[in-house]
Amino acid sequence: MSITARRKTVQGIQLCADPAREACFHIAQHDSEMAVFEDNMSEAARRERLHRHMNNEMGALEIAAQCLADFPDAPWDLRMQLARQASDESRHVAALYRRLRQLGGRKGEFPIGNFEWAVTNMCDTLAARLAIQNRTFEAGQMDLLGALRKIWRSLGDETTAEVLEHILADEINHVRFANRWIRTMVQEDRRLLLKVASAIRFLAETNATLLAGAGATTTDAAKKHADLGINVEDRRHADFSDDEINEILKQAGMSAFVSAEGPA
Ligand SMILES: [Fe+2]
Ligand SMILES: [Fe+2]
Repeated sequence: MSITARRKTVQGIQLCADPAREACFHIAQHDSEMAVFEDNMSEAARRERLHRHMNNEMGALEIAAQCLADFPDAPWDLRMQLARQASDESRHVAALYRRLRQLGGRKGEFPIGNFEWAVTNMCDTLAARLAIQNRTFEAGQMDLLGALRKIWRSLGDETTAEVLEHILADEINHVRFANRWIRTMVQEDRRLLLKVASAIRFLAETNATLLAGAGATTTDAAKKHADLGINVEDRRHADFSDDEINEILKQAGMSAFVSAEGPA
């Protein structure tokens, strides 16, 4: 059975079963199992951030590589982009693991979650996987990294800030090639639009159900995201149109930043 055909059920939702992890890792199925800290930039909280991010980058590597395995007939240029992405993501994992160890951390120190892998691999088209992983999760990560690098720097940790900046530069490219290829693929086959739209709805519904299980709502999550800010400049570099960026700002409750001339 193909690895993406294996299933797990979380709060009544069928998702792709977890990818393999070394025995030292505890895999969380609910947000409530993840480590939380009162001071979210304490020494332990910093290690947890790096540890969680390291696993997310591992997931990004696995998702890109799985796309290569599952869609062998995709255009060669797109396959090359996915292969380069997989290579970039492996560098991101290694850089974060190095930094984690420098700060006294270790693999398996905190629980990890594989939400991106579990949701993205439920999609049976490449366009939908790119829409979920690259255009949604990684674009969200660009927003997060845009804010986090400043936070680490303000705490005097220039090394981690630089690691995050290098990662951010690569993520812009991953989001950009996905945006371009989704447009091309949808133009060639309009039926893919429905596939992409259903995938985005599936992600939204899954998110809402899992958040509700943790006593939160999608509004709380959007607010948390909005507090960090939307990385408008890098989203532009990643080929989001002004209209798309305005829509994201509105969804994040940041309509004040939306102007007739385009996002600030
Ligand atoms: Fe990455
Ligand atoms: Fe990426």
